[in-house]
Amino acid sequence: MKLTVLGDPKVIILTGASSGIGEATARYLARQGHFLYIGARRLERLLKLQTELRAEGCKVVAMDLDVTRLEGLQRIVAKALDDHGRVDVLINNAGIMPLSPLSALKVAEWDQMLDVNVRGVLYGIAAVLPVMQQQEQGHIINIASVGAHRVWPSSAVYCASKFAVRAISDGLRQETETIRVTLITPGVIESELADHITDESARLAMQEFRRVALPPEAVAQAIAYAIAQPDSVDLNEIIVRPTASPH
Ligand SMILES: NC(=O)c1ccc[n+]([C@@H]2O[C@H](COP(=O)([O-])OP(=O)(O)OC[C@H]3O[C@@H](n4cnc5c(N)ncnc54)[C@H](OP(=O)(O)O)[C@@H]3O)[C@@H](O)[C@H]2O)c1
Repeated sequence: MKLTVLGDPKVIILTGASSGIGEATARYLARQGHFLYIGARRLERLLKLQTELRAEGCKVVAMDLDVTRLEGLQRIVAKALDDHGRVDVLINNAGIMPLSPLSALKVAEWDQMLDVNVRGVLYGIAAVLPVMQQQEQGHIINIASVGAHRVWPSSAVYCASKFAVRAISDGLRQETETIRVTLITPGVIESELADHITDESARLAMQEFRRVALPPEAVAQAIAYAIAQPDSVDLNEIIVRPTASPH
């Protein structure tokens, strides 16, 4: 793949880059010439991606990251600051979706979803907001879901977490005048997201739902488009659905 160097490379932190949308986004943005700081828990996968992209001339730094811990996000921000003296973009992409009906009482999975999908996004914002405020410039991109707009059976807690991400994003947008805030709202996308569903009925329902999934590059391109806008243009939400999906 050819490296296209942009006129204005950005310093970008991306969470959840070890698979799916995050991995495709890391490739896409790194190949545009941006400086990428990629994090996730499966470090071996990130290191493989780092090796592949560096061989193409891309600038990528992989770091072990658990978004449920504020210190991890502070560490990746500190590394980017050390190297470049600024952070231009944070992409809060890490997320999990262990769907189940509420009656299954999978309380530990509810906790995990809220920890990763909501607290993880808040911790990312906490780690980067003071830096961006001081810079008087920056862009925070949160990955929500069509589940941030409507609810389906078995997805109450997942949708609640994504409704929360939408609320947090709009609150952040209103509170800041120099920081751009974008909500990326994917429909069904090929990834490992549904692989961790432990509830049999939810897993079966998802197989039909995900039949028309788009490749993750479709979302990566939308993210790149939002980043490429000038500082004065705040693209607040992009919904990326498969044409064939009614949801
Ligand atoms: N695929 C879809 O249809 C779809 C639709 C709407 C929204 N989304 C959203 O898109 C985002 C990316 O999901 P995906 O579809 O690409 O699924 P995926 O392939 O399962 O990727 C999820 C990523 O999140 C990371 N992650 C999970 N827990 C983490 C933690 N505690 N700390 C750091 N990283 C963590 C995973 O890495 P490790 O396991 O290595 O930590 C992985 O890199 C999620 O927010 C998801 O809700 C996806």
